[in-house]
Amino acid sequence: MKKFLLMLVVASTIVMAKPYTVADRIQDMNEMASAMNIIQSGFFYNNYSTVEAGVAKLSSAVSRVQPPLEEVQEQDMLARYMNQKIQMSNKIVKNIGRRSLDILERFKDGDSTQAVQAYTKIMGQCLKCHREMRNW
Ligand code: HEC
Repeated sequence: MKKFLLMLVVASTIVMAKPYTVADRIQDMNEMASAMNIIQSGFFYNNYSTVEAGVAKLSSAVSRVQPPLEEVQEQDMLARYMNQKIQMSNKIVKNIGRRSLDILERFKDGDSTQAVQAYTKIMGQCLKCHREMRNW
């Protein structure tokens, strides 16, 4: 009985948790694009706190990115297969999160060349996902 109650609680939390939708993802994408611009201007003005603010914004947006409800619930097998490259997208998302911290560390050490390199690698990851998910 206790177990059953626990399962009910777990199930209802899952149901009540706000689902992540395509609209949420578009919003996070725009957040990430703006974060990248902030980081870039931090490089140009050689301003650590600007870089830091951009990295914070980028990490928080990227940590929300996940396959949206619409794709997870896709019924059509082929569309599901095309959409649900979950493994790949999770890997890319993790990669972006890690590299954004690299930017900050390098920049703090005064190594702006390495910081820019980490930035460029992130950009490559953004484009990789776009290419693979949308054939952009
Ligand atoms: C997990 C895969 C994935 C990653 C990683 C990713 N994107 Fe996207 N991005 C998408 C998809 C899919 C779309 C298309 C929007 C949709 O239909 O959900 C998109 C759309 C966009 C758009 C257009 C949003 C709009 O208003 O239509 C921008 C801007 C964008 N991404 C920026 C970025 C930036 C910057 C990064 C890296 C920091 C990034 N994306 C990383 C999957 C990804």
